Amino acid sequence: MRYGTLSQAALFAFALLLSPLLFAQATSSSSPSVTQTSSVAPTTSAPATPWWRHAVIYEIYPRSFQDTNGDGIGDLKGITQRLGYLQNLGVDAIWLTPIYPSPQVDFGYDISNYEAIDPMYGTMADFDRLIAGARQHHIRVLMDLVMNHTSDQHPWFIESRSSRNNPKRDWYIWRDGKGPGQPPNNWQSLFGHSAWTYDAKTQQWYYHKFYTQQPDLNWHNPDVQTAMFNVARFWLNRGVAGFRLDAITNLFEDPQLRDEKILPGKNAYGDPNEGLAMTTNLPQVHDVLRALRTVVNTYPGNRVLVGETYLPNIDELEKMYGAHDGQLQLPMDMQVGMINRLDANMFRLRIQQAENDLRGNMPLFVFDNHDIARSWDRYSDGVHDEAIAHIVATILLTTHSAALMYYGQEIGMVTSPPKTRAEVQDPIGKIGWPKQKGRDGERTPMQWTPGFDAGFSTAAHTWLPVAVDYKSVNVQVESAQPDSLYVWYRKLIALRRSNPALRDGSNIMLNTSDSNVLSYLRKNPWQGPSVVVAMNFTAQTRTVKFDLHSYGIRGSRAQTLMQNGGVATSVSLQAVNLPPFAVLIGQVE
Ligand code: GLC
Ligand code: CA
Repeated sequence: MRYGTLSQAALFAFALLLSPLLFAQATSSSSPSVTQTSSVAPTTSAPATPWWRHAVIYEIYPRSFQDTNGDGIGDLKGITQRLGYLQNLGVDAIWLTPIYPSPQVDFGYDISNYEAIDPMYGTMADFDRLIAGARQHHIRVLMDLVMNHTSDQHPWFIESRSSRNNPKRDWYIWRDGKGPGQPPNNWQSLFGHSAWTYDAKTQQWYYHKFYTQQPDLNWHNPDVQTAMFNVARFWLNRGVAGFRLDAITNLFEDPQLRDEKILPGKNAYGDPNEGLAMTTNLPQVHDVLRALRTVVNTYPGNRVLVGETYLPNIDELEKMYGAHDGQLQLPMDMQVGMINRLDANMFRLRIQQAENDLRGNMPLFVFDNHDIARSWDRYSDGVHDEAIAHIVATILLTTHSAALMYYGQEIGMVTSPPKTRAEVQDPIGKIGWPKQKGRDGERTPMQWTPGFDAGFSTAAHTWLPVAVDYKSVNVQVESAQPDSLYVWYRKLIALRRSNPALRDGSNIMLNTSDSNVLSYLRKNPWQGPSVVVAMNFTAQTRTVKFDLHSYGIRGSRAQTLMQNGGVATSVSLQAVNLPPFAVLIGQVE
C-alpha cells in the first residue's frame, strides 16, 4: 500500500448519500469545432458511429489540474498547456467541472453568472483558446451545466428574494413554514440538515437540495427552462461538444410538498435517514431532458449530453436514454464502478446488465469523480493495490462501454483526506466532521513531476496540499516505467481504439459461476479475431479454461495483447494460469 487506506464508511459517504435513488461534434468532418476526430477506428470495417459511443472522457477539476499564474489554483491556461499530455494519453473529450463566476461555496457548483468565466480560472479569451487548442489536439470539450440550482448570489435569486411579488419570485421554490421557525416539511439537504432556509425579509422559506447558498430553481416555471436552455445555446455556439448535466435527477420536487419517509438510522450529519421519493428522479425530469436534447440536436456534429445519474438500478438508468435516443446519450452508469469491492459475481452481473438491458444504448462506466473517494482506495487491499488498480483500469477500458476517467486516476493518485477539521475546504466536511470529511481528499493537485508542488504550481501554498506520495506517483516518473499504471492506461486506451473486437464487439460473460476470476469475451462482429479478457480477483494463482466453440469461435490459443502480473504471452485456452490479481487481454487464434 502506497498510502493510508480509508475506512469504507468515510470514503463513500457522499456517493451513498446520493445513491439510494439514486456530455461536440459528430463523425468528424461535419463538426463545426473539431475538424478531425480520433473516434473513427482506423483498421476496421466498422460503420461510422457517433464519436461518443467509443469515447474516453476525462474529467478535469480545473482548480487542481495545472496552475500557471502561481496562485496555487489551477486555471484554463494550465489546461491548454496540458493538451499534448491528454492527446498522448488518448482521451477523446474533457469534461470541465464548473468554471463560471461563483462565490465558490461549492467550488463552482454555485454559479452566479452562467455566461462568463470566473477570473480565478482566466478569461473568455482563454476559454476560446482552450477550445481552439483542444480542436488541434482532436479533443472535445464538455461543460458542466448546473440546471438544478444557482448561487444565492446569482442576480435571478437576488431579485427573487427581494419581495414576494418580484417577477422572479417564482423562479425558485418559496413556501410558508408550517409554523413559527418550522420549515414547510421534513426534506433534507444532501449536504446535511433541513433543505429549507428561512428568509426574514419576505418571511418565507426557500428550498435547496444542496448548500444553503445553492437555491433550487423552480422547473415548474417555463421561464426557468427558457433561460437555462439559452445558457446551453451560449456555450454550444462557442464550440463546446456538449454537457455533463449536474444533479439532473433533482430538477423536480413534489408540488404538494409531501414529507419524505423517515427510514431507520441516522446519516453522517446526525439527521434521520429519509427516502428521496418526493425530491429525486421525478418523472418530469424526462420532459426536460427530451426538450434539451431537441435544442442540442439543432447543432451539427453529434453534440452529447452526459448525465450525473445516481440511480438505484439498471431500469431507471435505461429510462434516461429515452426512446429513439431522445434524451441523454450517456447517462453515467454508477452501478459498475461503485461496487467498491473486487467481487467477480457482482461485476459480472452489472456489466451484463449494462450489455443486455439498455436496448443497445451505450453505458458510460465510471469509477472515479470529484465527489467520491478515489477508486485506488475503494478497491485496494493494502497489499496488491497497484495490481488492483490495473484491474480497475482494465474493466473500465475493455468492456463494451464509453469510459469516464478522472484526472490522476491514470497515475494511481490516492485519496488524501484532511486530517483535522481546520484543514477542511469542502463545506460538507465542516458540517459532517468527523464522520463526513468532505471531498477534499479526491481533489488534491495533479501530480506531474517529482519536483516542487509536483509540477502543479509554483505557489508556496496550493489550495489543497499536494498528496505526500507525489515523488514516486507522478506522470514524469511513471512515463519512464514500462509497467506503471500510467503506461497501462495509455496502452489500454490505444488498444480499445485500434482493436475492432474491443471497439465494437459484444460483451459475453465467460465462466459465469467462477467467483474468483472475471472473464469475458469481446466478440468480433466482423471476420477478425475476438478478444478474451480475464482478471484474477484473488491473491491465489488460478487456472481457468475457456470453451468458446459455442460462441462460434474456433481458436484454441490466445496471444496476449496486454498482460499484467506474469501471464504468459501465448496461452492455451484449455489452461490459462493467472497469478494473483493478474490480467490477461488475449486475442483468440
Ligand atoms: C453534483 C456535483 C457535486 C456538487 C453537487 C451540487 O453532485 O458533482 O460536486 O456538489 O452536484 O451542485
Ligand atoms: Ca491560477
